Amino acid sequence: MAIRIGDTAPDFTAETTEGTINFHEYLGDSWGVLFSHPKDFTPVCTTELGAVAKLKPEFDKRNVKVVGLSVDPVDSHTKWADDIKDTQGAALNFPLIGDPDHKVADLYDMIHPNANDTLTVRSVFIIGPDKKVKLTITYPASTGRNFDEILRVIDSLQLTAGYSVATPADWKQGEDVIIAPAVSDEEAKEKFPKGWKTLRPYLRVTPQPNK
Ligand code: BEZ
Repeated sequence: MAIRIGDTAPDFTAETTEGTINFHEYLGDSWGVLFSHPKDFTPVCTTELGAVAKLKPEFDKRNVKVVGLSVDPVDSHTKWADDIKDTQGAALNFPLIGDPDHKVADLYDMIHPNANDTLTVRSVFIIGPDKKVKLTITYPASTGRNFDEILRVIDSLQLTAGYSVATPADWKQGEDVIIAPAVSDEEAKEKFPKGWKTLRPYLRVTPQPNK
């Protein structure tokens, strides 16, 4: 069954390039990103894993552990890691799950048979410290993902987890945010001392509270 926002992220134990991990234990109190790619030794996937390796410090800064997955076995991942390092200028620095029996892929519905009946699509799951799924996205094999967008969503999720705000279209760190409609103007006076602009009664814009 498909995993939905608000579901508990299914737990599993799997072999990875960094040894056996139990997913929930591995995440501990951190946020998590679990993402699949279709196949080792393929062009788009090679660029994606290089991109994530380069962004590792950004994930670390946000207390996020990243875990990749494909249906190839770990020894294939390990051989492919040399190509990622040589061609992308960044070595693999996060665990890649080897999932030849599709145990994790099936658990997370990462194989979409009408696209390909054996390979994983490009799934992304962002998981909170409470182990609940906060975001799911799915890309086709032919489109490499924009991992800056994943970081942007994590920034939004972490902000909205701490304050009664939502973030508008194309929001980035430091930009104005939206006061949650459930917050009354009376409450907002206390929560948002920097004030706000009321564009409509349901659309109140305030400076990012933690900046
Ligand atoms: C790729 O990573 O380039 C790729 C993988 C599987 C199917 C198509 C493209």
